[in-house]
Amino acid sequence: MARFEESEWAEGKHARDFVQNADIYILERKRLLRLVQSFYRNFQRDRLQRPTRLLDLGCGNGEVTMALLEVDDEIEAQLVDGSSEMLKIAQERLKSYKKLNYIHTTFQDLIKEDILTTDFDFVISSLAIHHLHTEEKKALFNSIHHQLAEGGFFLNIDVIKAPAGDLEDWYRMLWKEWIAENEALLKPEKSFQYLPDQYKNNPDNHPDTLEKQLNILRSAGFKQVDCYYKYGIFSIYGGRK
Ligand SMILES: C[S@@+](CC[C@H](N)C(=O)[O-])C[C@H]1O[C@@H](n2cnc3c(N)ncnc32)[C@H](O)[C@@H]1O
Repeated sequence: MARFEESEWAEGKHARDFVQNADIYILERKRLLRLVQSFYRNFQRDRLQRPTRLLDLGCGNGEVTMALLEVDDEIEAQLVDGSSEMLKIAQERLKSYKKLNYIHTTFQDLIKEDILTTDFDFVISSLAIHHLHTEEKKALFNSIHHQLAEGGFFLNIDVIKAPAGDLEDWYRMLWKEWIAENEALLKPEKSFQYLPDQYKNNPDNHPDTLEKQLNILRSAGFKQVDCYYKYGIFSIYGGRK
């Protein structure tokens, strides 16, 4: 079992470094968020006659919830993260929104017991679930399906494993090329060209192939399961209850 407490995310410095630099090295970060906003606008915003109940799993500093609040400021959200440091930053950033709840817990604990009580209308996660092993992903996807209200979507923005080694190498090269293009625009003090290789060798990362994860979603009962976006190892995939 992957243990959150032993992962790099349990260190405050790692969390703060991500918050400061994610826009430089997360491939097409802004586009990923715009796509999630578009998805929400199309499939969720006007679906119900009451505020949407959102769950953000591994919320970090609240970036994804914040993007959705730009589309719909009536959202009622529960933001979950294993890092108290991250939750503190999210709470400070989103303090003007009053209908948000912050829950300090790990996915491993969420799988073990029903900590969340509400039926959610929309569940989102970004760049967090790849830290779980396959069996834990299965348990989490089952639990998300259980927590979702009928008609609700689960979307996961995440890194995935390529189905072959040479594809994986090319995807990592695409990622490096994108970082170089982005660094030419943003001119950061420090380069993040090393990151794709560090990602590959990081024992905290347990990505599965897209196909495997889509099948796990189908087995959990999700419909309209698909990959909604993909660029190298970065993807947005999910399904509807
Ligand atoms: C790369 S950050 C992404 C944060 C945010 N979703 C975003 O896209 O900006 C990953 C987040 O997932 C959280 N996380 C990773 N593994 C987790 C686990 N097993 N349980 C709960 N949170 C976890 C980390 O603490 C971190 O805040």
